Amino acid sequence: MIDLHSHILFGLDDGARDIDESIKIIKEMYKYGIKKVIASPHFMEGVYNSKIDIIKEKIKILHERIKEEDIDIEIFSGAEIYMDIVILDLIKNNNIITINGSNKYVLIELPMGQIPMCSEKILFVLLTGGLIPIIAHPERNHEIRKDIKRLKKWIDNGVLIQINGGSLAGRYGTTIRKTAERLLIEGYTHSIASDSHSSYHPFIFYKGIKRAEKLIGREEVDNMVNKNPEKILS
Ligand SMILES: [Fe+2]
Repeated sequence: MIDLHSHILFGLDDGARDIDESIKIIKEMYKYGIKKVIASPHFMEGVYNSKIDIIKEKIKILHERIKEEDIDIEIFSGAEIYMDIVILDLIKNNNIITINGSNKYVLIELPMGQIPMCSEKILFVLLTGGLIPIIAHPERNHEIRKDIKRLKKWIDNGVLIQINGGSLAGRYGTTIRKTAERLLIEGYTHSIASDSHSSYHPFIFYKGIKRAEKLIGREEVDNMVNKNPEKILS
């Protein structure tokens, strides 16, 4: 499987604290069938200012360690960018971190509560600039939970949706689980990712995948954890 969303890079955000924790998470990922993973540390103005050079450097260090430990996982660069007006400056200055340096796919995180007023404009600027936003775990946003159809117009315009395996496994409670299930069953979902912050998450992700297979079948799930992420990576 290919995991599009993770916080495995040590010392950058609220994910892995040190390299040993990074390795612990990666080992669990490998155990549950993940072969490729996007390292997507938070980018949030004034809180987490992850820089691409540092991300690449940490990936290089991790690649050396996983080679020593004989773990067959490949790590790619990315970031989880908080939906904020600052994104417009990042785009203008050509500073926005894209998945695997693609200059195409951008992982965007909504706040837990409201959908910011600037969201429509940001998505419009991204799309018209040739960038494809992937909305990370919209099931965790309050307004989306009230009305998942809010995503419909975005998807019709080319936005992709990533839900968390953990949401399907009930990690964040019943309402988030039910919303994630609806996003899956009603065809709003393009990928399922682990959003791993600790070594516990790959197992929860795996549980979510099994749940998804029961809901929509193995072939559809395969599109979401293999085929679509592979297209995004390549
Ligand atoms: Fe995340």
